[in-house]
Amino acid sequence: RQGSSSPATTTPSAGAPSRSSGSPMPAPSSSSAQQSEPSGSLEPRRAARDVDSADSPTVVVNKARPLDPVDYAPGSLESVDGVPLRPEAAAALEDLRAEAAAAGHHLTVLSGYRSYGRQQQVYAGWVSHHGSAAAADRISARPGHSEHQTGLAVDLGDAASPDCDLDACFGTTPAGRWVAAHAHEHGFVVRYPEGAGQVTGFSAEPWHLRWLGAEAAAQVHAGGGVVETVFGLPDAPGYLG
Ligand code: DAL
Ligand code: ZN
Repeated sequence: RQGSSSPATTTPSAGAPSRSSGSPMPAPSSSSAQQSEPSGSLEPRRAARDVDSADSPTVVVNKARPLDPVDYAPGSLESVDGVPLRPEAAAALEDLRAEAAAAGHHLTVLSGYRSYGRQQQVYAGWVSHHGSAAAADRISARPGHSEHQTGLAVDLGDAASPDCDLDACFGTTPAGRWVAAHAHEHGFVVRYPEGAGQVTGFSAEPWHLRWLGAEAAAQVHAGGGVVETVFGLPDAPGYLG
């Protein structure tokens, strides 16, 4: 189990390696550097994907890509069932939950935005619980490296299966299956899919959704579900340095 109920301890700040931005793979006919399409092309022109700016809906945060600044905090937050999220993600989550409810699933909102300091406590709690950073690093991000710090990530549970909250079995609950099939329709992706640990750096988390916006989420879903791979960014199995 993991989440905001983990033991809270203090720990020295984790290192903040400098950004290793990689080179985003351009989506088909996307970036402004890619505008040499034949005239008359029916392809819509899309804005370049910003994977670096902390405020960007498509920012990619992982073990090799800390937030910049490392103690970034969103400018505004809205509450969904008492859980803070960036307004764009909150609105999308409301839609997702309404559609899930119409399909008979009650999704609980377990965790959203976490500050640098809160993530520091959560991570230190898992190091203490497991007795090693290596074990904690499979399930909990160091501060400055968590998507929760963007305000664009949310952990969901199935009200009908609370024993599966923040547990792998969420993925086998009716609500978890529905989320896996429909999250992208609301701009979310399951950020840590099964079998992608060497790319994402984390064990599977079927409960952790990341809002990317409709277009990028659809691309990730169609491209196999792993953000780094679809965006053409390096694998991030471990921390740099
Ligand atoms: N559990 C995810 C990886 C986080 O700590 O952000
Ligand atoms: Zn999460």
